Amino acid sequence: MRAMIALITGASSGIGEATARRLAREPGSQLVLVARRGERLRALAQVLGGALVLAEDLTDEGAAARIAEAVEAEHGRLDMLVNNAGAGWSGTFAQQGAANLRRTIEINLLAQARLTEALLPALHRSAPSCIVNVASTSGRVARPGSSAYSASKFAFIGWTDALHLEEAPHGVHVGLVNPGFIATEGFPQRELVGRASTRWMVSTPEKVAEAIIDAGPGGRAERYVPRPYALAAAARLLLPGGVRRVLASRDGTALSTTTAAGTHAASAAGDQERDRAATGADR
Ligand SMILES: NC(=O)c1ccc[n+]([C@@H]2O[C@H](COP(=O)([O-])OP(=O)(O)OC[C@H]3O[C@@H](n4cnc5c(N)ncnc54)[C@H](OP(=O)(O)O)[C@@H]3O)[C@@H](O)[C@H]2O)c1
Repeated sequence: MRAMIALITGASSGIGEATARRLAREPGSQLVLVARRGERLRALAQVLGGALVLAEDLTDEGAAARIAEAVEAEHGRLDMLVNNAGAGWSGTFAQQGAANLRRTIEINLLAQARLTEALLPALHRSAPSCIVNVASTSGRVARPGSSAYSASKFAFIGWTDALHLEEAPHGVHVGLVNPGFIATEGFPQRELVGRASTRWMVSTPEKVAEAIIDAGPGGRAERYVPRPYALAAAARLLLPGGVRRVLASRDGTALSTTTAAGTHAASAAGDQERDRAATGADR
């Protein structure tokens, strides 16, 4: 892999943090770390031997332009963009309503699109370059209790599929990564990890980080992690009735897991408040 400038969103925990650690092992790589919790990013940058840290809330309309400006000023180019930041709030549509759909699409789709738009000129100039979009197996197979999350990830995948075709002639490879159940801060998968019969289904952020390398500089168009989750997506298309029956059964509803997006956001807000009081976006 050639030495590259790589920007990772959602680098303060879980899959994004594991990806930053993985990319930092590539000779000559220089990282740009983005998330709301600046203290976390600064601590990670220190461990990794340095990185440009940009503490930003990606749902803020001005964030994408500020990030593009900072990347331009620091590096003048960008070889890899990992659109990983995301969140999901548990609950049925009847409980959470359209407001939840709006906030979920805001962070899981529109924030990624705004950032990509702002960074495309740099990616074009640096071609061959790549974008990796971290969607979800929930963007292929919807479960009860996460309708807003699934809607956002279905849309994110549709957008990614088209972007892949649009950007290939410009030398920007667009790869898609669809994780299954991965134990992280925002998605602890407690229900599955807590039962011996389902523990095997849960994988690690480090495995997703490897898939992100495959789907980025490795040139793969799409990766599921763990790989057998691709079978769930195929079954949903080929045997929709059977998949619906399984998901409606007791075994299927046991796959509904609780997320931690609420607590996460509260801690990020506190961190951003402290950041604003200090320097704002910094490195
Ligand atoms: N874990 C799973 O089972 C699983 C499965 C499929 C797909 N995914 C996807 O994988 C991606 C990473 O999730 P994860 O599992 O690693 O969860 P995580 O540990 O909660 O990480 C989410 C990251 O997104 C950042 N983020 C959230 N809202 C943000 C905002 N408004 N602005 C900027 N950054 C924001 C968070 O940082 P701050 O809070 O510091 O802002 C955090 O770094 C997400 O897109 C998720 O949908 C996860």
